[in-house]
Amino acid sequence: MDNKIYKRVIDEANYIINTKKTIREIAFNKNVSKSTVHKDLHERLYYIDKNLYNQVEKILKYHLQIRHINGGYATKMKYKKLERNDILVSKDIGIDLGTANVLIYVKGQGIVLNEPSVVAVSSETKEILAVGKEAHQMLGRTPGKVKAIRPLKDGVIADFELTEAMLNIFLKKVKGKGKFSKPRILICCPSNITQVERNAIKEAAEVTGAKRVFVEEEPKVAAIGAGLDISVPSASMVIDIGGGTTDIAILSLGDIVTSKSIRVAGDLFDQEIIKYVKNKYKLLIGERTAEDIKTEIGTVYPESKKGKKTIRGRDLVTGLPNSITISSKEVQEALKDAIYKIIYAAKNVLEETMPELSADIVNKGIVVTGGGALIDGIDKLLEEELKVPIKVAEDPLTCVAQGTAIMLDNINLLQK
Ligand SMILES: Nc1ncnc2c1ncn2[C@@H]1O[C@H](COP(=O)(O)OP(=O)(O)O)[C@@H](O)[C@H]1O
Ligand SMILES: [Mg+2]
Repeated sequence: MDNKIYKRVIDEANYIINTKKTIREIAFNKNVSKSTVHKDLHERLYYIDKNLYNQVEKILKYHLQIRHINGGYATKMKYKKLERNDILVSKDIGIDLGTANVLIYVKGQGIVLNEPSVVAVSSETKEILAVGKEAHQMLGRTPGKVKAIRPLKDGVIADFELTEAMLNIFLKKVKGKGKFSKPRILICCPSNITQVERNAIKEAAEVTGAKRVFVEEEPKVAAIGAGLDISVPSASMVIDIGGGTTDIAILSLGDIVTSKSIRVAGDLFDQEIIKYVKNKYKLLIGERTAEDIKTEIGTVYPESKKGKKTIRGRDLVTGLPNSITISSKEVQEALKDAIYKIIYAAKNVLEETMPELSADIVNKGIVVTGGGALIDGIDKLLEEELKVPIKVAEDPLTCVAQGTAIMLDNINLLQK
């Protein structure tokens, strides 16, 4: 719509809104019948421009929750003044559908949603009770009747219906805050999913009224979000350490050349900490405690971060609550096996790459993204083991969401 028409649409819509009266009131004041008022409104718009009329009606339906301008539903008007940029803008949406966190980016607004990928379900009725942050609170402390599920936990979609429902609820939440007319949606999913799952996710987003839906693989978008220019004929390498999976990819000329996805990432780090504490201290701790240990005092590099943390759990011998103090050094020991699995996978990917491309990587280095990139010492350890410069992305948890922003602005980057 050109600017002139646009302004008319806004003006006309505001005229109707500014009457701040119901059709009945207007009719009463003017001493005419309601149908005359309807006709007047109708004429004001319809005879100017049929297209304009449809647009205004659309705005009013959306904003004021009336069904027809001339249908007597004006009583439901909310008297809100419309702004130039308020409406009819097709806002692009980028979604990072991660195994641990879902982030939603909206063009012009930035990242508007950042919540754990968790759904709380009633085990009796199978009804969804909560999603995101609210559902996350229930993880590990749900009463028998409530199950908190992470539908994407292992990087494959374990429960498609729940994934779809979660996606829909998040999208509704985002749409409730803004005005959307048929957005383009870019979804990034774990690179392990099958073509069938990929199509299903696409459909789930299409159902929400999207104009176009694009599905991309996470490591590619993460690389773009981390500021790499992957369009050049020189290789870039990214290691994305998420919750369920670590995705390692080499990219060149806008696409993935070699990649590998392993189920060793943040969740496994937590499990390793649980195992360590159980074996060494005969103390049982929960996943959330393990995650706290990891993020607060965790390190993967010997002689790196120093810290201690006192934690509570259940003593396996007495069955009673007990507490112990764990050190960074111990966490480093606990995480050693897992982190070396990531290192071996990265070495593998490098070995499988054409010599010219690996030469590029030796020069440019590797970028590490995803929440796992935040663990202390990861850069030093990877640098020593892989003999390549390592750069941790500036904001590893939002790289993918930022990447969607860049891709949506550069349509040529999107796969058809
Ligand atoms: N400061 C931190 N140190 C270590 N791990 C962290 C830190 N912050 C977050 N994480 C871990 O990052 C993982 C989530 O990363 P994210 O990139 O959001 O995953 P995904 O893309 O799979 O949803 C979780 O396992 C979380 O525990
Ligand atoms: Mg991710």
